[in-house]
Amino acid sequence: MASSSPNPVVAPSHIHALLDRLHEESSTQEAALGNYLSGTVSFDDQMRDKFIALDQDKCQFVYQLLRATNGKNVVEIGTSFGVSTIYLALAVGSNLEASGGEGKVIATEKEPSKAEKARAYWKEAGDELVTRHIDLRVGDLIETLKNDLPTVDLVLLDIWAPVALPALKLLEPKLRTGAVILVDNTIESATRYADLLAHLRAPENGYTNITLPYTKGLEMCVKV
Ligand SMILES: C[S@@+](CC[C@H](N)C(=O)[O-])C[C@H]1O[C@@H](n2cnc3c(N)ncnc32)[C@H](O)[C@@H]1O
Repeated sequence: MASSSPNPVVAPSHIHALLDRLHEESSTQEAALGNYLSGTVSFDDQMRDKFIALDQDKCQFVYQLLRATNGKNVVEIGTSFGVSTIYLALAVGSNLEASGGEGKVIATEKEPSKAEKARAYWKEAGDELVTRHIDLRVGDLIETLKNDLPTVDLVLLDIWAPVALPALKLLEPKLRTGAVILVDNTIESATRYADLLAHLRAPENGYTNITLPYTKGLEMCVKV
């Protein structure tokens, strides 16, 4: 009996190879980083050349969820080198092809050098299947998300903790009923995400919540 988990992502082999390579590079970087963070260099400076990509199994789950919900308008809070964005774009592209309509992945990255690298990886994946579904907004997302937002089906929050709640609050007026909010690392970083989790879990704010038992946790919240 096969024991490996099936991969839901429908994509040509060169994209699977690219994704495997990028996840590998990200994991290698994180292992080398360990728990070491310099006290003399700023956090942003230390992270500028790091992927910190969403784990591959989580990316596959997000893809599968988007296919299941036919999500077409997605906001990615924290894009880095654009690994999770590739999954989002593939899912949105397939949903648009299957049932028509309009949609895109709004990606957000404040570091221009990271945005440039993300664009290069998306180009490698392919303009037709990936790049054309992405609207990358470079700069502080608190500014870049102020205007021109569609009604949102899914938000992936994969960002430094202090920015997470302000970002969600910017998007809240645009969330459709049934919109899904995913937040990474909510077990390991529960303390850092305390304000965000308190907001999502307060009954008056209208979300249902579950912590999925992926490594370090993945919160899945639904706007009801
Ligand atoms: C954890 S990484 C995102 C990883 C990405 N989702 C992936 O799977 O490849 C978070 C990114 O958010 C970016 N970021 C942090 N604060 C931001 C802000 N205020 N506006 C836009 N991007 C920001 C960081 O530069 C970093 O690259």
